[in-house]
Amino acid sequence: MGEGVLTTGFQRRNGELRCDDVSLRSIAAAVGTPSYVYSAAAVRDAYGRLETALAGLPAHIHYAMKANSNLAVLRVLRACGAGVDVVSSGELHRALLAGFSGSQIVFAGVGKTRAELEHALHVGVQCVNVESEAELELLSHVAIARGAIVPVSLRINPGVANVTAGHAYIATGEAGSKFGIPLARGLKAAARADALPGIELVGLDMHIGSQIADVEAFADAQRRLRGLLDGVRAAGITTIRSVDVGGGFPVAYHDAEPTADLDGFARVLRDTFGDADVALIVEPGRFLVAEAGVLLTEVLYRKESAPKHFMVVDAGMNDLLRPSHYAAYHEIEPVFESAAPLQVVDVVGPVCESGDFLALNRSMPDVGAGTLLAVRNAGAYGYVMSSTYNSRPRPAEVLVEGDRWAIVALRESQDDMVRLERIAPDWRSA
Ligand SMILES: Cc1ncc(COP(=O)(O)O)c(C=O)c1O
Repeated sequence: MGEGVLTTGFQRRNGELRCDDVSLRSIAAAVGTPSYVYSAAAVRDAYGRLETALAGLPAHIHYAMKANSNLAVLRVLRACGAGVDVVSSGELHRALLAGFSGSQIVFAGVGKTRAELEHALHVGVQCVNVESEAELELLSHVAIARGAIVPVSLRINPGVANVTAGHAYIATGEAGSKFGIPLARGLKAAARADALPGIELVGLDMHIGSQIADVEAFADAQRRLRGLLDGVRAAGITTIRSVDVGGGFPVAYHDAEPTADLDGFARVLRDTFGDADVALIVEPGRFLVAEAGVLLTEVLYRKESAPKHFMVVDAGMNDLLRPSHYAAYHEIEPVFESAAPLQVVDVVGPVCESGDFLALNRSMPDVGAGTLLAVRNAGAYGYVMSSTYNSRPRPAEVLVEGDRWAIVALRESQDDMVRLERIAPDWRSA
């Protein structure tokens, strides 16, 4: 399926799970837990596999930085040659800090504010991916006010079935989804974009969801978008020069799950847009970073409450939300191989919510307090979704580069958490 055996990232040596040439135990000892650890080599490896599959196509990879927006991770991907897909002014700011230029940035997002559109124009992004007719009108006003012409891509909702191999929350291309402009209105929206001052219609885009293992699902959506492209051109609008087909390549969270069929995806792209005379953009997030990260956590307590056995760990839903929010599965392993017998446990965090868990009914070595665990494939939608709920500081992030490692986000302190609050408010008269 276009995947080789991973030679970078997380491997066991003498029973210890390591990140490339660095001991996870030594990182945990120095930085504490919970902490995210990322392998730069594994990020580069994933990027290289996708780049190889796309070779020969006029395609460029724009990393969907919502998956992991740590500045040091962004720099790894920038050095690979990636552009970025941002969905907020905050992400735009981060992308610029990481060294991306405006022309390497596409700005997506269903609810961009006027200020965000102004920011996009100020930076000179490659294009604004517009998600509604109303946004198109506002963007035109913003562009006229600045005396600018803004390159625009229309995000189309192709109205496909839920094609994701996961939770309904990761599907974005179905009829009735909040994302994009319904395919049936695409031609009209394109005509409006073509007519509006301050707007240059340069592209069409879509993103149908995440964890898409079936290349036929990509093919179906892409054929719909190609149909619209042809329709727009037949209507005399000839300015479209790029098509962005989104992200959504899957990651095997379970051994049994399929990996991304990158060659199959490239074939579909070639079959559908090979003769379309457009530059192609793909926007993967998860695929590039998920396998490159773990969350390190320590077992605090073992506890029984019949019929359940609990492993209470020091990472909670505020650190890794995916199990609770998406019922997502993450492999959890002791960093040191354990000979303890297997036990079915719930791995739960310290947060005061029954929904605070990392795994339910999981068969795991029956390890005790003090054991260091690694929550696998946590590099995507991990830290970026963390919060300070229960006034728990957000974890540290560490990047490993071969046999070196560095803290790339300090653990939040208790003072950090209250820094923006005012105990003696500065009252203003009404
Ligand atoms: C517009 C857009 N592009 C790309 C992505 C990345 O998706 P994935 O991480 O599944 O590749 C997302 C994810 O939500 C998205 O909304």
